[in-house]
Amino acid sequence: MKVVVIQGPNLNMLGMREQNIYGPVKLDDIHAQIEGVAKQNNVEIEFFQSNLEGEIVDRLQECYGDADGIIINPAAYTHTSIAIRDAIAAIQIPTVEVHLSNIYQREEFRHKSLTAPVCAGQISGFGPMSYHLGMISIIQIMNEVASMREAQAAQIAQQNLQG
Ligand code: DQA
Repeated sequence: MKVVVIQGPNLNMLGMREQNIYGPVKLDDIHAQIEGVAKQNNVEIEFFQSNLEGEIVDRLQECYGDADGIIINPAAYTHTSIAIRDAIAAIQIPTVEVHLSNIYQREEFRHKSLTAPVCAGQISGFGPMSYHLGMISIIQIMNEVASMREAQAAQIAQQNLQG
């Protein structure tokens, strides 16, 4: 099973960027932490960060037929990007949206997520732990999807046997 973690604009600046909101932890440290969770669960993991909307759309499209789950922090594009929302909807891969800060406690323009409605769920406000929780959630969802597929395959095999 494979998870792709997609990070939006300015998240490469974590550690120095508005530390009062986002804390002192760097993006690489967050990635190292969730890589550990992936390893413990035998899950392959890839990381991608971009400040460009189109590159995020491209990376989402590349997940089609390749990834089993996605964790995305679209950052500011959460609140503006119909293109990223449409890409998530198009690829039909379970996706968990994460935010370090609690976007509902902040400015009103951050209260609306255009992307959350096409995700399995959203985790917001737990700092780096949002990614840890996102990882646990996506692994659980991928396991559920895999066992559903196995059950369906077994049912079809049974039907075929019965002629
Ligand atoms: C963020 C919240 C967004 O509103 C903001 O634009 C970000 C980071 C978060 O992780 O808390 O860049 O996605």
